[in-house]
Amino acid sequence: MTPLELACGIAVEAGRQLKERVGVLEVGEKGARGDLVTSADRESERLVVERLRRRFPHAAILGEEGGSSGSGDERWIVDPLDGTTNYAHGYPLWCVSIAYERGGELLAGAVYAPVLGELYAAERGSGATCNGAPIRVSATPNVCEALVCTGFLPSVYERNAANFARLSGVAQAVRRDGAAALDLCFVAAGRFDAFWERDLKAWDIAAGTLIVREAGGAVTAMDGSGLELEGGSILATNGRLHHEMTGYLTEP
Ligand code: IPD
Ligand code: CA
Ligand code: CA
Repeated sequence: MTPLELACGIAVEAGRQLKERVGVLEVGEKGARGDLVTSADRESERLVVERLRRRFPHAAILGEEGGSSGSGDERWIVDPLDGTTNYAHGYPLWCVSIAYERGGELLAGAVYAPVLGELYAAERGSGATCNGAPIRVSATPNVCEALVCTGFLPSVYERNAANFARLSGVAQAVRRDGAAALDLCFVAAGRFDAFWERDLKAWDIAAGTLIVREAGGAVTAMDGSGLELEGGSILATNGRLHHEMTGYLTEP
């Protein structure tokens, strides 16, 4: 079984468990206002880590709820439930995200959105798929014709307001869908032409980044410099309007 097959199998299993538990939740806040965590997040991570450990007893695993364990050249990066606020409200855009990295290079990524019934997958050098069918980024040439997406927690609205307002005036439309891993997959599938966000973590973006790149898109920091998986900002686009987007986004 390849790392991608393993990631896909576990993402689907964890996603189905989550879907069964919608509505049976203990919801809490982690610190910042709006940063929710539920009993379902923790149960999902337990399942994912247990399944990974059966096949990779010693590899490093970075999970959002459990932190890191293991060490070495190979690393699994897990968001056991991305879009927790959506999940807690019964809004269908949430997913499980699992990425596999070796020697610091992203090699495989799987994102499963159970309510949509969509499994996004990519292996480095082999393209990206949704439910097994190849996907490609859009061909939209400029931002005024683009559907773009962003995200931010209520606690950091002030820092994000200027970019949000600017793009709202320029793009065809702006969405704020609340699940970064899935937002990236929607760029890969050509639904969104661009997605940007600040302060995301490796578990939010590792799988989605590989899926966008393998679908022909570009992923960098918001100013066009190299992406830092462990923090900073992200800009993912169809490639054609990447440079134009960097012009509208100001840091920090
Ligand atoms: C969150 C989502 C959201 C983004 C937040 C993330 P979580 O992840 O991806 O879209 O705006 O910054 O923390 O907490 O639902 O796994
Ligand atoms: Ca997340
Ligand atoms: Ca999460």
